[in-house]
Amino acid sequence: MSNPKRSKIIAGNWKMHKNRSEAKALAEAIGHGVKGEKDLPIVVLFPPFTSLAAVGDVLRDTPVDLGAQNMDHHDGGAYTGEVSPTMLIDLGVEYILIGHSERRQFFGETNASVNLKLKAALKHALKPIVCVGESLDERENNLTDAVVRRQVGAALADLEVEELKTLIVAYEPVWAIGTGKTCEAAEANRVCALIRATINDCFRSDESTQIGDSIPILYGGSVKPSTIDEQLQQSDLDGALVGGASLTAEDFLPLIKSAQKRIRSLISV
Ligand code: PGA
Repeated sequence: MSNPKRSKIIAGNWKMHKNRSEAKALAEAIGHGVKGEKDLPIVVLFPPFTSLAAVGDVLRDTPVDLGAQNMDHHDGGAYTGEVSPTMLIDLGVEYILIGHSERRQFFGETNASVNLKLKAALKHALKPIVCVGESLDERENNLTDAVVRRQVGAALADLEVEELKTLIVAYEPVWAIGTGKTCEAAEANRVCALIRATINDCFRSDESTQIGDSIPILYGGSVKPSTIDEQLQQSDLDGALVGGASLTAEDFLPLIKSAQKRIRSLISV
């Protein structure tokens, strides 16, 4: 059974979509849709940088939180085109996506840069969602487990267990992102459990901690209203990181409702 103590999370990654007025309208529709609701999951929206301030204003009096899709690991300085953790905090950002596969694939991010960004996020008390996942080629060559283990281990290098209280991990198989091909729920759950075990292994010298057991692990990759219920039934899967289906309130609100239903069923057990 899923651990009811772990937060349930529905996160919407808008990627490079929505200008400022479109972003405001979508945030308003989502904020309106959850107004007054109880037993909600944590809901986080990740608009593009250019809409963070506008969406932050809209979300101020709602239960929905604000996240950014990327940041630099430096506090500031001569890094043209980059945005620092403190600049994001200044805009009311609470969550940060780190190492999304599109960042790794198209913008040269590596396991080493993910580690630097994770350290910067934790230093500034931004809540990190670290993304990991294998490519189609890696899956077809039976490398899924090795790749995911390596990505998780490298992300956590040189960190202490006490620093990880706000860590969230997202398992996003690259072949399932934006393709309409969802990873089967049972297989996604197996990899989420592997991520949990890997986190525990990273800190096994301290036998008293099973930190991996308390970290929320999300699944991402073509999540939609028709797939979410089965996904949220899985024992090691605590929510979803959603791209395409986060771009309209009609698709996104049902995902939140499904998580709310799951939370209520866990409370009543
Ligand atoms: P998708 O994107 O839901 O459109 O597959 C998920 C993601 O990239 O986080």
